[in-house]
Amino acid sequence: MNYQEILEEIFTEVSSLESKGAVADYIPELGNVDASKYGIYLDSIDGVGFSLGNAYERFSIQSISKVYSLVLAMKVLDRDVWKRVGVEPSGDPFNSLTLLEYENGIPRNPFINSGAIVIADILMSYYQNPKEAFLNFVRKISGNPNLDYNEKVAMSEKEHGFRNASLANLMKSFGNIHNDIEDILDFYFYQCSLEMSCKDLAQSFMIFANKGKLLNDEQVYIEPRHAKRINAIMQTCGFYDESGEFSFRVGLPGKSGVGGGIVAVHPSHYSVAVWSPKLNKKGNSYLGIETLERLTTLTGFSIF
Ligand code: DON
Repeated sequence: MNYQEILEEIFTEVSSLESKGAVADYIPELGNVDASKYGIYLDSIDGVGFSLGNAYERFSIQSISKVYSLVLAMKVLDRDVWKRVGVEPSGDPFNSLTLLEYENGIPRNPFINSGAIVIADILMSYYQNPKEAFLNFVRKISGNPNLDYNEKVAMSEKEHGFRNASLANLMKSFGNIHNDIEDILDFYFYQCSLEMSCKDLAQSFMIFANKGKLLNDEQVYIEPRHAKRINAIMQTCGFYDESGEFSFRVGLPGKSGVGGGIVAVHPSHYSVAVWSPKLNKKGNSYLGIETLERLTTLTGFSIF
């Protein structure tokens, strides 16, 4: 498959689209990003990487971090993770409080904010220094030892994180948060502030395309049975109340973040990351989805 040619064709097509959407600014520091950035990196299972545009520039991964923290939580608690968080799509925005009240503080899934805060709580109980454990893990699987948190972004979110604080408090009232709320939110805001490029993201998500392994070593970073589950949750919940639409249009498991990144995998074929900061109303990258829809259309294959 000549992926490079396909990426170039996609780029020509999406460049001609009307520029829709808006950069996230509810975390003020994210509002400073250049809205015209666009990058894509595809890592194929046979070890060849294809890139275009700003594929090597780091940006705020935000909710994409929830996939890495879920990997760590599954390593730590295995099936017991599912006593604290569900695996159903919520059909609600990523920061919604509504269902939590009816469902006794058990979040629908680990990718909405409430679910990710519970996962952060699990990691907080297990690791002496969860920030360090999280960062080391992502550095390892991305093959990039220079990755780091952006403290300015973390602090900016902390100052405006009223909704996440209310989610954490509501869950604590139901007994589904065990650690100090400030500590958990601090860790959560840091994990979201991690900066990675499309290349870093695609490389690290190879563990979901390649049964738990990277391409260049034999180590199993996640058990295949866990990779299978996480791919399923990405497919059904990776885009919040737009998960059905993403599945319909793109047909791959994936995860988005309000920094404008989307990562998706075609198991046994490739992992791919795209970055364009302008978001649609559901908080997902507008051109990111347009790009990936064209990728599965032009290649003629998705998981379906
Ligand atoms: O908690 C928040 O609101 C952000 N740190 C992450 C949200 C996010 O990325 C939603 N994704 N599309």
